[in-house]
Amino acid sequence: MTQDELKQQVAAAALTQVPRGEIIGVGTGSTVNFFIDALAGIKDQIRGAVSSSERSTERLRSHGISVFDLNEVGQLSVYVDGADEIDASGAMIKGGGGALTREKIIAEAAERFICIVDQSKLVPVLGKFPLPVEVVPMARELVARRLRALGGDPRERTGYITDNGNLILDVHGLHITQPRDFESRVNQIPGVVTVGLFALRGADVALVGTPTGVERRDFL
Ligand code: A5P
Repeated sequence: MTQDELKQQVAAAALTQVPRGEIIGVGTGSTVNFFIDALAGIKDQIRGAVSSSERSTERLRSHGISVFDLNEVGQLSVYVDGADEIDASGAMIKGGGGALTREKIIAEAAERFICIVDQSKLVPVLGKFPLPVEVVPMARELVARRLRALGGDPRERTGYITDNGNLILDVHGLHITQPRDFESRVNQIPGVVTVGLFALRGADVALVGTPTGVERRDFL
C-alpha cells in the first residue's frame, strides 16, 4: 500500500469517531484532506465543522460542509487531526503544515482529540521531525537564542507567513524525552505564539494506518 492509501484508509476509519448531529473540529494536512473528503459522504449527518486553517475551510466549503467560528460554538466533542510525529504516550509534534496555533486552540476546545496517522508517524522519541514554533516577527532572534539554549537548531521557514501573520522557526536536532516539560519551557519564551508540541494536551485516541489495517491506540 502507498502512504496515500494508508492515509485514506485511516481517514475513512475516523468517520466512526464522528458524533452525528454535532459540529466537528477539523485539522489540517494531507491526511485530514482525505478525512474531509470522507466527511462529505456523511455531511447530512453533521451540523458542520470548525476548521484549523484557511486551506481546510476552503476544502470543507467546496464539499458543502458549513464552517463555524469557534467563538460561536464553544466546546466540541471531537477534534480530528493528523500529526507529524506521535509517541507512545500520545504526545505529538504538529505544525508541519503551519497551522499549529489554530490546531492547538481547537484541540483545547475539544473533549476528545482523535489523531489520524499512517504508521510512519509513530516514533519512540519526538524530535526527528523539526519542531515548528510560531513566533511574533520582532521576537525572531530572541526566541532563536532561547531555543538554542534548550539544545535546538532553529531555522526560519523561508517565505512562509502563518494564517495569523507570524513566522515559523523549525527547530532541528531535538530529542524530546520529556515532552510536557519541554512544551512548558518553550511556551514561556516571550514572543512564542505556539509551540507545535502537543503533550500537555495530547491525543486521546490514535488511529494508525498500517498495511494490515487500521490500529487503534487509546491514551490515558
Ligand atoms: C498541520 O499544521 C500539521 O499539524 C498536520 O497535522 C501535520 O503536518 C500532518 O500532516 P500530514 O497529514 O500532511 O502528514
